Amino acid sequence: MSIYHKPVMLQECLEGLNIDPEGTYVDVTFGGGGHSLKILEHLKGGRLIAFDQDEDAKEQAEKIKNRSFTFCQANFMHMKRYLKLNGVTKVNGILADLGVSSHQIDSPSRGFSTRFDGPLDMRMNKSITLTASQVLNEYNEEELHKIFGMYGELKNARTAARSIVQQRVNKPFARTEDLKAALHAITPRGKENKYFAQVFQALRIEVNEEMKALEDFLHQSGEVMETGGRLVVMSYHSLEDRMVKNYMGKGKIFGEVEKDFYGNEIKPFKAVTRKPIEASAAEVEQNSRARSAKLRVAEKI
Ligand SMILES: C[S@@+](CC[C@H](N)C(=O)[O-])C[C@H]1O[C@@H](n2cnc3c(N)ncnc32)[C@H](O)[C@@H]1O
Repeated sequence: MSIYHKPVMLQECLEGLNIDPEGTYVDVTFGGGGHSLKILEHLKGGRLIAFDQDEDAKEQAEKIKNRSFTFCQANFMHMKRYLKLNGVTKVNGILADLGVSSHQIDSPSRGFSTRFDGPLDMRMNKSITLTASQVLNEYNEEELHKIFGMYGELKNARTAARSIVQQRVNKPFARTEDLKAALHAITPRGKENKYFAQVFQALRIEVNEEMKALEDFLHQSGEVMETGGRLVVMSYHSLEDRMVKNYMGKGKIFGEVEKDFYGNEIKPFKAVTRKPIEASAAEVEQNSRARSAKLRVAEKI
């Protein structure tokens, strides 16, 4: 039986959270629950509220029988509202392990995988309406160019966008193999896997509004965190990491830190680690997903 998801930098995340056994913690990306279970082991009298927007993750969460644990099937862009619904206004630590789980990638029917053919779906939350095929069939060339460039960091984003727009006239995009075939002629030779991974990442980010969700979540984490509480975020691509770094260091996703009349910086967090923590070589050898992970930790001031 394949495991749902192997948690990345488990020990490093735990150290980052610096758990008070009686405190209230939030894991906004439950997935298979690897990090949540470890947090629960450290609680005595404390509480863990976990989020995931995917119903498969909810099924995993239902297996946890622990009175200290609450699961919310919701997008973490609504974290503050759901915490309030559960009687929580302040927390002592929040963990976010961004992106998709191995379970999601390895399920062909979800359309996240570059390895298996599947429908061009890519929704983490199956009840939203936008799918990857809609993005490919309905967005204009300029929008596709922007998505491939910004979210996929494709060097030939404009050419890729043009190819899609030209080829969908003959047959709308429905399957992941259609997409790969359409891009075949413009895919750098010998770098096919990396290229398709970037294309799929770009579509996934657009379908799931990942940048907006992260931005909303970061702002809310500042609002609900107790002084001294820790924000621990693990990201897997540079756009996300830049947003996390900016927010932790400057209190802003874009732009410079604000100062008050006396020149004191106005920001909710101070970074605990200046540079992101990366997985050890031994972990990367065991789990290739850990290779691109960047972990940042900040403390509420
Ligand atoms: C990398 S996995 C987390 C794995 C987890 N830490 C573990 O050890 O099993 C990311 C999970 O976060 C969920 N997710 C991603 N973005 C989300 C969002 N905006 N709101 C709620 N859940 C989200 C995905 O559905 C996925 O299950």
